[in-house]
Order: sequence, then C-alpha cells, then structure tokens
Amino acid sequence: MNKVRCDIKDHLLADAGRNRIDWSWAEMPVLQALHDQFSHEQPLAGARISGCLHITTETANLARTLKAGGAELLLCASNPLSTQDDVAAALVEYYKIPTFAVRGEDNTRYYRHIVTALDYHPQLTMDDGADLVSELHKNRRDLLSGVIGGTEETTTGVIRLRAMAADNALAFPVIAVNNAMTKHFFDNRYGTGQSTLDGIIRATNILLAGKTFTVVGYGWCGRGIAMRAKGHGAHVIVTEVNPLKALEAAMDGFRVMPLLEAAACSDFIVSATGDKHVIDRAHFQVMKDACVIANSGHFNVEINIPVLQELAQKISRPRQFVEEYQLKDGRRIRLLAEGRLVNLAAAEGHPATVMDMSFANQALSLAYLWNNGKNLENKVYSVPDSIDTQIATMKLAAMGVNIDTLTQEQQAYLSSWKEGT
Ligand SMILES: NC(=O)c1ccc[n+]([C@@H]2O[C@H](COP(=O)([O-])OP(=O)(O)OC[C@H]3O[C@@H](n4cnc5c(N)ncnc54)[C@H](O)[C@@H]3O)[C@@H](O)[C@H]2O)c1
Repeated sequence: MNKVRCDIKDHLLADAGRNRIDWSWAEMPVLQALHDQFSHEQPLAGARISGCLHITTETANLARTLKAGGAELLLCASNPLSTQDDVAAALVEYYKIPTFAVRGEDNTRYYRHIVTALDYHPQLTMDDGADLVSELHKNRRDLLSGVIGGTEETTTGVIRLRAMAADNALAFPVIAVNNAMTKHFFDNRYGTGQSTLDGIIRATNILLAGKTFTVVGYGWCGRGIAMRAKGHGAHVIVTEVNPLKALEAAMDGFRVMPLLEAAACSDFIVSATGDKHVIDRAHFQVMKDACVIANSGHFNVEINIPVLQELAQKISRPRQFVEEYQLKDGRRIRLLAEGRLVNLAAAEGHPATVMDMSFANQALSLAYLWNNGKNLENKVYSVPDSIDTQIATMKLAAMGVNIDTLTQEQQAYLSSWKEGT
C-alpha cells in the first residue's frame, strides 16, 4: 500500500512519468554530478524542505537530488495549469516524495496544497513566484521562527520578495536563484524562447512564417521569444516601456512601437513582462480578426481577461488550449491557455538542458542556506558568484567545451592600474 501523502490525479500514470523523468535526467549532467556529490557529502542532512514549483520532469530530478543530499521534502504546484500529472504520480510512487498537485486544480485546491506545504513545517522553502513565502508571512506567522531560509526561482517572485524586504516584512533570508547568470541568461532567454514558441505552435498549429508577431516586454524572456519568432520567419515587433530595452530591441533589428499600434496589425501577441494588464481593452478594440494572444509571464494578469469576457458576445473552445472570444463586431480573438504561462500549459516548459543549470543553482543555494542561513540577514541575496562559476564550469565540461585560462602575466595585467600605453 502506498503510504506517501499526496493529492494527485492518478497513481496509474506513474510509469509514464518515470520514463519522462529519466529522459530529462539524461539532459541534466550538472544535476547528475551534484546528485553524486550530494549522496557522498549529505549537505542537506536533516533539512525539511517545502517546494512550491512547477511539477515537471525537471523538478522531479531536482527533488531526487535534494533527497540524495539528505533532505526530506514535500512538493506542491506553483501554478494550477503547469502540473504534469504523470510526473506527480511518479514522484509519489517511485521517489516517495509527498506531492500535492493536480493539473487544472481550481484556486481553492491550489491554496489548500500550499497550506499543506506549510503544515509540513519547512526549515527551507523553495518558491517559483513567492506564493509559499507570501502565504507563510500573511497567514502562518507561527511557523516563521522555524524557517532558516528560502530560494526563489523567478523574476516575479524576486520582485515580490524585494518589496517585502523593503517593507522590513521579510522574516528570513532568501536567495534569488533567478538572478544567477547561469539561471536567467539561459533559462529565461533560451528556455522561455524555445518553449513559448513550442506552446503556441502546439496550441494552434498555425505557421509563423510571414506572420506579424508582437512580443510585449524585451527583458530576458522577451528577448528569447523575439529571437525564436524571428527564426521562424515571422515579422517581429517589440513593445516596451523601458527606453534602454526598446533601444536594444531596435538595434537587434526588431520594429519597436506602442502596443496600440502593433495590436492593429499583429497575428500573434505574446506578453512576458511580469506586469499587469499590459494587453488591455484598448488593444482588444483594434486587434485584427483571429489574432492569437498568449502570455509567458508568471501570473495570468498580463492579459485583462475579465475585460475580454465583457467584450465578447460568444466564447467557444475550438482546440484544447484555445478559447475564441467573438466580439460584438464579429472579430475573433484567440486566447491561449487561459492567459497562463503558455510554455508550461500548452507545452512542457523549459527543456531539461537549461533547467539543469537553474536547478543546480537551487540545489547549491539550498545547501548554502542550510549551512550558513543562521548567519545571514533577513533580505534577498544573490546567488554567490562562486556557485555561478562552478555551474558554468560543470556545464561546459559536460558539453565537452574547453576554454583558455589567463596566464600569470595576464592576471597581473588585469589586476594592475599601473600599466598603460
Ligand atoms: N514562462 C516561463 O517559463 C518563465 C520563465 C522565466 C521567467 N518568467 C516570467 O516572465 C516574466 C518576465 O521575466 P523576465 O526575466 O523577462 O523579466 P525582465 O524584468 O527581464 O523583463 C520584463 C520586461 O517587461 C517590460 N515591461 C514591463 N511592463 C511593460 C509594459 N506595460 N509594456 C511593455 N513592456 C513592459 C520591462 O520594461 C522589462 O524590460 C516574469 O513574470 C517572470 O517571472 C516566465
């Protein structure tokens, strides 16, 4: 009999989940090396961790690594639509990790799972969007004294945590995994770039070549999405509110204009800003018939869906991840994945190769917190540079890429101010 606590869709999916977890494991050489290292060194011995992450194959491999390092952990979903039910089943059946995640769960069940993760009395927290830490500070302050530290995976979570720290409200140190170079430089850019296009293509099966494709926000994710859409042969427009990012997009060869102008000529509009209502009433009112809109930012607030519902005369679902809103003047607007992260809802999220580095940062940051957290202040920390360098070195080695090293003469030159022309 299975004694691992859980709320998952179907235990019978476990074999399929394990096969996919093993498939992605083969693409995660850095995590594999850490798994071996952690098995010997036990850097997380005795640590109790609650993780609120997307329940995907890569997360399962992170969980395996943390367990090998001596941690006990419980997982819940960080988004109601991103859970891979077969992975959740394998986590419970094969890896004996309590898991609370069901794809499509409603908000009540989503928050019930977060409460369960808190009832676990974590000493370390892992978040993707800061819902766990936020619930802990708002509603379970009795548990705060037991928490040594936490990690945060994404840009939106880091913004929320920085706001908490600025209010002196953060009760323990948090490491912003997102801000490691070996995370956002690769995961947000190449991972979100490829998987967002993958989600849009799987959801619609519409050819991108020759279409007008607008990316809202030219941050790390937006750059990746724009780059990959261009690679598909789309005419790419970028919209921004930050002059520096807008300038960069223009010099990268994209057309830059206000979204109101872009909306009138776009076949696809995708947001990746971490901001609210960036695609709004005024934009819906000028969109072309059959315009596809999607979001790759963390929360489903980037597209103002309540207003879209209000404007619609009829809503239908022509394909699994497509909701078609027919407006009163007959135009149709096609919303993908209910405005939630399209790459996780309609595809499988980031490929394992980039999550390898993101989750190596998670594993090493948690070990760092477990061993040093008591000496840290209650603020948001960057991942230590030594961890970033270690992960980049390990990834290059796994890829079989060698690089040069500085000579003694070069080291002396680069650290001296005395030599000139
Ligand atoms: N889909 C995924 O798997 C995935 C992966 C990583 C991050 N994220 C999420 O994606 C979002 C963006 O992350 P990022 O790392 O690219 O952040 P970022 O801070 O690098 O970029 C966000 C950009 O959006 C711009 N912006 C803000 N409001 C805007 C508006 N109204 N119109 C146009 N541009 C606007 C900002 O100026 C900024 O350049 C966050 O919510 C993050 O958590 C998602």
